[in-house]
Amino acid sequence: MSKSTVGEVMITEEQIRARAAEIGKEISEEFAGEEMLVVGILKGAVLWLADVVKNIDNENLGIDFMVVSSYGSSTKSSGVVKIVKDLDSDIAGKIVIIVEDIVDSGITLSYLKRYLSGRNAKAVKICTLLDKPEGRKVELEADYIGFTVPDRFIVGYGLDFDQKYRQLPYISFLK
Ligand code: IMP
Ligand code: MG
Repeated sequence: MSKSTVGEVMITEEQIRARAAEIGKEISEEFAGEEMLVVGILKGAVLWLADVVKNIDNENLGIDFMVVSSYGSSTKSSGVVKIVKDLDSDIAGKIVIIVEDIVDSGITLSYLKRYLSGRNAKAVKICTLLDKPEGRKVELEADYIGFTVPDRFIVGYGLDFDQKYRQLPYISFLK
């Protein structure tokens, strides 16, 4: 990838896969026998979701997606969350695992968690590939965190800058 815009590799594909296996196992054990719905937030969470679900051992697991918008094409949050595509599935009585690429300000996920909690889910949990605690504007703690990253603009493994670099098989940052 263009050496002038994307920095060096921060987290490798192998590290991500290994962490997904640990988290998948944890989720399998915690929610054994429960009905689960894994909710990917498009588009950033797609690569990470694929890794995590392969490691969840549960016969009653569904996958669904939501599209929310909180960012324009800049690198700063607008602070406004809009639901562009809602769930197709009913979540009543289910364990809902929201899968996201990164928790930065926390605005998107705190909104989504409240929104989905209001629909009689048995529990709503958050599984994020990355956590950027220094970016927090509202209080929010993810339940499952792949990796904690410093306060830089991250790209790769689903995370984009202006819709680019999502396909990188590793986590890097913008220079
Ligand atoms: P939050 O609402 O500020 O927590 O951010 C949520 C969304 O902002 C994430 O789902 C990402 O799409 C985007 N975002 C936040 N930080 C980064 C970053 O470092 N790189 C790419 N996207 C980011
Ligand atoms: Mg996103």
